[in-house]
Amino acid sequence: SIEERITLLMNQMTLEEKVGQMNQYNGFWEVTGPAPQGGSSKIKYDHLNKGWVGSLLNVRGVQKVREVQKIAVENTRLGIPLIIGFDVIHSYKTLSPIPLAEAASWDMEAIKKSAAIAAAEAAASGINWTFAPNVDVTIDARWGRVMEGAGEDPFLASKIAVARVKGFQGDDFSGTNTIAACAKHFAGYGFVESGKEYNNVDMSVSRLYNSVLPPFKAANDAGVKTFMNAFNTLNGIPATANRFLLRDILKTKWDFQGFVVSDWASIGEMISHGYAKDGAEAAEKAAEAGSDMDMESYLYVNELVNLVKEKKLDIEIINDAVRRILRLKFEMGLFENPYKYCDEKREKEVIGSASHHDGVLDMAKKSIVLLKNDNNLLPLKKSGQKIALIGALASDKTSPLGSWRIAADDDTAVSVLEGMQKYKNSPVTYALGTAVFSGKPTFTKELEINTDDKSGFEKAIATARQADVVVMVLGEHGFQSGEGRSRTNLDLPGNQQELLEEVFKVNKNIVLVLNNGRPLAIQWAANHIPAIVEAWQLGSESGNAIAEVLYGDYNPSGKLPISFPRNVGQVPIYYNHYNTGRPSNSENNVFWSHYSDVEKTPLFPFGHGLSYTKFDYRDLKINKTIFSVEEPIKLSVSVTNTGNLDGKEVVQLYIRDVSGSISRPVKELKGFELIALKKGEQRTINFTLTKEDLGYYDNGGNYLLEPGMFKVFVGTSSDQLLETEFELK
Ligand code: IFM
Repeated sequence: SIEERITLLMNQMTLEEKVGQMNQYNGFWEVTGPAPQGGSSKIKYDHLNKGWVGSLLNVRGVQKVREVQKIAVENTRLGIPLIIGFDVIHSYKTLSPIPLAEAASWDMEAIKKSAAIAAAEAAASGINWTFAPNVDVTIDARWGRVMEGAGEDPFLASKIAVARVKGFQGDDFSGTNTIAACAKHFAGYGFVESGKEYNNVDMSVSRLYNSVLPPFKAANDAGVKTFMNAFNTLNGIPATANRFLLRDILKTKWDFQGFVVSDWASIGEMISHGYAKDGAEAAEKAAEAGSDMDMESYLYVNELVNLVKEKKLDIEIINDAVRRILRLKFEMGLFENPYKYCDEKREKEVIGSASHHDGVLDMAKKSIVLLKNDNNLLPLKKSGQKIALIGALASDKTSPLGSWRIAADDDTAVSVLEGMQKYKNSPVTYALGTAVFSGKPTFTKELEINTDDKSGFEKAIATARQADVVVMVLGEHGFQSGEGRSRTNLDLPGNQQELLEEVFKVNKNIVLVLNNGRPLAIQWAANHIPAIVEAWQLGSESGNAIAEVLYGDYNPSGKLPISFPRNVGQVPIYYNHYNTGRPSNSENNVFWSHYSDVEKTPLFPFGHGLSYTKFDYRDLKINKTIFSVEEPIKLSVSVTNTGNLDGKEVVQLYIRDVSGSISRPVKELKGFELIALKKGEQRTINFTLTKEDLGYYDNGGNYLLEPGMFKVFVGTSSDQLLETEFELK
């Protein structure tokens, strides 16, 4: 058995070789974090040759992977193969939409397929481990990594976590088109204070269990092979050395059998956190707490051997970590064939294949959310309409690739301009209007925004004036969100807002196509612009997907996985908040929970998204009104497509636990179904709630299922719902 093979191998390993398995270095070609001082390629190669490296990240391409694997297999005493990690976040070279966009599809089959495409491309490039999915629930649009997760809701995020893990890993590793997944960042990173990157996190244990942990738990239940630490402290303890998270919850309560990798240099960063006085103490605390592999801190390789020899660290901690790491290598079949993922022919055939382009195009269309469509301005007519296309992002072939797309080359996305030009009978005239950034955008450098330059305004206005409809593609460049890209301003960057208002003065028939990696505050646009399409950053096939939606070849069905604020001051704003004692204004005085300068509701709520057709909800029924704990609660609702087109709809179910021993949120998503209805078609949709849907965790991490009244809501978005109720005895 694998466990016996591990034991046999470990019996032959020196302490240094064991610690080597716990050491991960960044490769020699690309970086995804700040390289710590003291590291050099020479040291890394030396360690590789000694068998003191268990894994490399950021090595890609069959040739390079073969090169480093050969060192591990042929030059080291025991020939233990490396696992090769890479951030395959939204596919590899043929890019799918950013994860937040994919979440807007609410389509688990599509998301799973997208992850499978990502895995196939990465595996064909020699990679066998992705640092994905990012399952960080977040309620703060200021945080740049919003683009990487599934939004604000733990239930939806859990379903997506499972789809992604299954997509990446498949059923086993016997083939060559699956890779190991990594649930990250464990835990709390999505709640960094004030949305500032790498900031600290303070939260109740109840919030941790109810809002943050569910997608991690779901990923574990789905068999995810690895976890990654978060950079943040959680209630004062860095996640990297957080025993409560790693040992008590993950490895004991959840019985996780895989291994935990630190984030980039996060073990060393505990010195800055004020949690370790030096590298030795940092290494000791991280290992003791349950971090099995050190990414690019050099601290495990430099300190663990001494710590064991000095009896400061129990050898069993090392043994446990090494066993976990070797287990994955055995499961992958790397001992049988270390070059399993290194096949030049496959690399050429698989990466960028036509079927992958079809797959990411399909995912991109499903990710688009129609936010507003007054007077049915959309879809555009396929002939006879003069269209002005405005915005630097409309012709940009790099921005749609989004952040975290290390393997994809610049200028490889289909732009909106290219996508629309295919519809030849409605001529498109293009004007850039204004630049969103200046200089060459890169993953590692801050993007500069030129706000003063209005030289393109005049042409844009003239182009708009002569058009029947103006399509404006505005928003963020792909590198304005992502790691290290927190913002305190959620408006359209640069002077795009001014451009929008100037164009509006000459032509009110505007379709605003948003490109962004996070919710933006577009209150003015929502008030004035008749049609708004949320098109995120949709990857390699972006422009084709957007054009198909604009011209009605694809009827949009996406729903927001995160609330859009009216302005940044409302942040954090999310649908599943707790109530206050004064939620409404019955007395007509100021003494109620609100802002005096803006409404307290979001601009676009969680779950919102329109279609070119209409859906009518009625007859929400429940099978009884009083239930015992073990009885399934059955609900049904009638949904009819009352518009003129076939379409898809996400039917959403929420509950409210009316009173509990801890206050419960005003609404919690507990079910959804994506349905396709022909025009005129009616269908009855059934839901079943069980005791797993009705309980929650208290501040001791105990699961409580309490009797009492529950409300149930079903509808088209978190703010448009039919309502019923029941009692749990
Ligand atoms: O996987 C990432 C992580 O999400 C952020 N820091 C760097 C890691 C490796 O690239």
